[in-house]
Order: sequence, then C-alpha cells, then structure tokens
Amino acid sequence: MKIAGTPTRSIRPLADRSGVEIIDQTHLPHALVFRTLRTLEAACEAIKTMQVRGAPLIGATAAYGLALAVSDDASDARIDAACAQLAATRPTAVNLRWALERMRARLLPLPAPARRDAAWAEAGAICDEDVAINEAIARHGLALIRDMHAAKGRAVNLMTHCNAGWLATVDWGTALAPVYAAHDAGVPVHVWVSETRPRNQGAALTAWELASHGVPHTVICDNAAGHLMRQGEVDLVLVGADRVAANGDVANKIGTYLKALAAHDNGIPFYVAVPGPTIDWRLADGSGIPIEARAAAEVTHIRGQAEGGRVLDVCLTPAASPAANPAFDVTPARLITGLITERGLCPASRAGLRALYPGHADG
Ligand code: MRU
Repeated sequence: MKIAGTPTRSIRPLADRSGVEIIDQTHLPHALVFRTLRTLEAACEAIKTMQVRGAPLIGATAAYGLALAVSDDASDARIDAACAQLAATRPTAVNLRWALERMRARLLPLPAPARRDAAWAEAGAICDEDVAINEAIARHGLALIRDMHAAKGRAVNLMTHCNAGWLATVDWGTALAPVYAAHDAGVPVHVWVSETRPRNQGAALTAWELASHGVPHTVICDNAAGHLMRQGEVDLVLVGADRVAANGDVANKIGTYLKALAAHDNGIPFYVAVPGPTIDWRLADGSGIPIEARAAAEVTHIRGQAEGGRVLDVCLTPAASPAANPAFDVTPARLITGLITERGLCPASRAGLRALYPGHADG
C-alpha cells in the first residue's frame, strides 16, 4: 500500500542485511514511526510489545528475527534456541509457528556457511508469498462484494473487527484486502470499524488505514455492533483470523465471537479471510487453540492524544478493581458463512477446507 504516494510494506529488510525496518504500530494513529530491528532480541521484543502484530506480520517478523540470529557459522543448537525464543513471544497466531518451522526446515539441512544467505532469502520468500496470498484473497472477496453491490444497487456496508489490513500483514491485509480491491474497482463500500477494546486496533489502525486510502468508514464502539445489525445497517461482516482449526473454527481478536452471534441472529453473512498459513491442520477443532492472556493494564488504562498533541495513558477503573484480559476468542464454524482463502471460498468445515487444501492431513 502507499504512504503519501510511496509504495510501502509493513516490514522491509535493509539492503545490507544489518536489520529490518518496521512500522512501530504502538504509535499509530498519532504518529507514523519507522524502527529498525537489528537483533533477535529486538525482533522478539517488537512482537511481544505489539510494535508489530497481526498473524501474518508476526510470522514474517519471526522469520526475519531468525535471519538476524543466523551468523555465517550458526549451529543447529543456535537455530533451535532462536526459534524457541521467537516462538515464546505470542501464543495464539499460528503463523508464528508456521514461519519458524518453515525456516528451520530450510536451514538445518544446509552446511553452516550457507545458512545466513538462505535465512534472508527464505524470510523474503515468506513475505512475497504473503503478499501474493493477500492479493488472491482480495480477488475472491471482491467477487463477493461486487455481487452484493449488484443485488442491492447501493454501497455495500461491511463491518470489520480489530485490524486485518495491510498493517497486520506484509501488504494488502486479509479481511481488508477485498475492501481495498472493491474501492479501487469503483464498487462503493462503507466500513463500520469496531474500536476493538482493549487495544483499539480498529479505532487506531483500521481507521488510519482506511482514512489514508480514502475508503468511506465510520468508527463505532464495540457495543454498537449488534444494534447496527438489527437496524439493517450491515450487509456483511468480514474479519481476519489468528488460527483456524481443521474443522473451520476460528480464533480471532476478542469480540469476534459476539459479532458472529449477532450476525447469525440477524441473518447477516459472516465471512473470515484466511491465508493458508493461518490454518492449523494439527488441531481438530478450536477447543485446543491457546488464548493469549495479556496484561490487565490494557483494560484498566487507555492511551489517547491530549489537546496539544501529547500522547498519554489514563486510568479508567478503581485502583482496587482487578481486570482480566483474554486477547482472543474462538468462533465456532457453525456461525461462519464462509472462509475466503487464497484458493477461493469454502464453507467453514473440515470438508470445505480439505477440498481446497487436499494435500493436508488434519487433526
Ligand atoms: O493482537 P493482534 O492485534 O495481533 O490481533 C490481530 C487480529 O486478531 C487480526 O484480526 C488477525 O491477526 C488477522 S490479521 C490479518
């Protein structure tokens, strides 16, 4: 996507391989801050503190994190230790494990002197493939939005949750990729952006992306979603995924399940954009998906920009009140109208996924 007219990816290796440049997303939407990660430890920290976040971008950052750790004489033990360090950063998005297993499988058979070049090349390939996957998701999702526009004869009102845009991937995004494709193709769309407490990825990141690209949108508080669906203001709900089990159950940002329930009750199509690397073929259903528990301070406090431009955190709750912060939930496949993958649309079911990915054994 473009920032001020310049094509930009969310993560980019430096030409001399001394580091990778990221956008530090903790500063958005108030400031656009680029940062260079130069060590394995910096990559781990960037993932943990959510300077980079979103399932595909977490995988891409981990791949480059490993490349940063691989010297010209990197032993098997060094590679395994670096993989373990990266794997421990965040638990829910399976793209992290997927990227590390792919890097490890590429590097370990090679003689040590060949490993550094191969690591940078493989991390680059993971990024390029992510972009190609998301372009394909954009094409398949565009057909859906186009049909809906033709049937309704007016702008299509979509609702999304969290940020599954280009900031969450290397480029394009997953759930937002069809939205950009529709907008660019002249199919009129309007996006309801749910703020996504506690970290507000919707209000801060999705709104910033859509505003930068000129896509009509409106930010709502999370609790307004059901009301808008009952009022007939939502034609389609489209969200991303952090891990999809082999039966089509989907883990995504906390609050996704509530939107799926409300969509189901109101007969509104609920689609999930799913890149292949987000499918966990080892899990039979969503009950085994690890749900990240994050700091209570993300619930008790909120960050915003005060008049005059200063960004500050303020407290919302009584000091004596404990808070809980489960960061993801699982939406059962029965509430999902369909999955939009790079290979096309399919029902959220074991049979649907198997038909698109016949080579995969499942749990
Ligand atoms: O905690 P986050 O911001 O990493 O969670 C991100 C999401 O839940 C996204 O919806 C998901 O990763 C899909 S990103 C294309």
